[in-house]
Amino acid sequence: MTTAIYPGSFDPFTLGHLDILERACGIFERVIVAVLRNPNKTPTFSGEERIEMIRESVSNDRVAVDSFEGLTVQFAQQVDAAAIVRGLRATSDFESEFQMALFNRKLAPMVTTVFLMTSFANVFLSSSLIKEVARHGGDVEFAVPPSVATRLARLRENRQS
Ligand code: PNS
Repeated sequence: MTTAIYPGSFDPFTLGHLDILERACGIFERVIVAVLRNPNKTPTFSGEERIEMIRESVSNDRVAVDSFEGLTVQFAQQVDAAAIVRGLRATSDFESEFQMALFNRKLAPMVTTVFLMTSFANVFLSSSLIKEVARHGGDVEFAVPPSVATRLARLRENRQS
């Protein structure tokens, strides 16, 4: 079985991420969404919340959701993944992604990074912009799965109370 991991912060998971995940499912038999737990960063949503939101947004039984700490390639090797999937939006993503892919290849030559292009409709989506718009009461329902929209709204209500 060919397994790929799809690593990221997913703070939170967007329709752009879902688009890449669905494309990855068209290529790989099993895809593990790997949520980074970074002890040096304080995410908006906890690791558990990010995992929950992804699970609530994905119904494909070939997709698993897990979290990891440390190096992405170490996690890929642990789960016996042949590939790391990363999404590309505009060319501005390319430089840092290219650097990361080459570094990862140096660390783990058997794990191949596969870049998938997001659909045109999602090119401008980013988790941080979505959070900023949601924080100020803007509509983000077109950009995130319903479970994420609900939690962003809840976050805003909690901040206001
Ligand atoms: O969603 P993001 O924040 O763009 O994802 C970035 C991520 C998690 C893929 C990247 O930061 C990462 O792989 N972090 C784990 C640590 C690691 O492996 N660093 C070396 C990369 S060469």
